[in-house]
Amino acid sequence: MQLADRLELAGFWRDTLEYAAEKTTRPAGQTPGDFNSFLGRGLVLLGCGKMGSAMLKGWLDGGLDASLVHVIEPYPSPWLCSQGLQVGPVPVGANPAFCAIAVKPQVMSEAIDNVKSLGGGRTVILSIAAGTRIRFFEQQLGSNTPIIRAMPNTPAAIGRGISAFVGNRCATKEHLDQAETLLSAVGDTVRLRDESEIDAVTAVSGSGPAYVFLLIETLARAGVREGLSETVAMQLAISTVAGAGQLAQLDGKPVEQLRKDVTSPGGTTAAALQHLMAPGSGLAQLMQRAVRAALERGRELGSE
Ligand SMILES: NC(=O)c1ccc[n+]([C@@H]2O[C@H](COP(=O)([O-])OP(=O)(O)OC[C@H]3O[C@@H](n4cnc5c(N)ncnc54)[C@H](OP(=O)(O)O)[C@@H]3O)[C@@H](O)[C@H]2O)c1
Repeated sequence: MQLADRLELAGFWRDTLEYAAEKTTRPAGQTPGDFNSFLGRGLVLLGCGKMGSAMLKGWLDGGLDASLVHVIEPYPSPWLCSQGLQVGPVPVGANPAFCAIAVKPQVMSEAIDNVKSLGGGRTVILSIAAGTRIRFFEQQLGSNTPIIRAMPNTPAAIGRGISAFVGNRCATKEHLDQAETLLSAVGDTVRLRDESEIDAVTAVSGSGPAYVFLLIETLARAGVREGLSETVAMQLAISTVAGAGQLAQLDGKPVEQLRKDVTSPGGTTAAALQHLMAPGSGLAQLMQRAVRAALERGRELGSE
């Protein structure tokens, strides 16, 4: 390797590591104590399954005082019962700062009764239920209730999710900032301009982890067809997707440029991309159809 190339490579890694250090530093909103500053009146969590417990764990790890938390959950797990928080119905007269809703949409009509007393007051409702529109919460809890609807995804379970969110007319900038602090306990956040964008978010990042898992499965299977063992092929596929994803997130270059950087003219990657980028039958068209199908199904479910 030429000296100039080495220096460029060293520079690349220095920039990448510096950027990574910056990205992995907890945002200001997540420092211990900050949850407690705006949740002084308490937080109610309705539904503590996979997503509810991922968020709760993020909040407790981020310094939230467990005595401020009240969880409504029919079958509390041993982990939940050992956290020093309150489990059971919302006490009469409770006036928590936030009520996070993480039950399945199918049980929402029944579950919402548990928190009806929190509507129309000072409690901000933060729902992560897929397909349940802000209008439903306004009808159930009163249109003067601040309501924030968010769509996280499953990597939230390891603190690497992404949540898009939007508020109704009663949600102030302060409410949105606080909701963002809560959501950033399980990953990145992005603010939407309008609730109508949630269907597209669901189709891209909500369902997206499944598309990526399929990519891993099919890449590994192709490797097996070319003679690799299943274990090695799967290890190569998982690490390639994880590493490329992290590089895309940390490098700062446009992803298209990163792709071009790996593709020498006439080389092996170019030979593969000829198929993946074939006009009319490549990955772009397939992905467009897949995302459109997810979006349309989301709209159907939302109107049922
Ligand atoms: N998982 C994801 O990837 C993902 C992504 C984005 C959004 N979401 C949304 O997040 C929400 C939760 O999903 P999840 O995957 O965490 O589901 P989950 O694991 O089934 O959790 C839902 C929890 O709510 C509890 N519950 C049921 N009825 C209740 C009631 N009447 N009152 C209080 N709690 C009740 C359930 O208890 P039982 O198990 O005893 O019924 C369960 O523990 C859903 O609305 C989903 O659309 C999930």
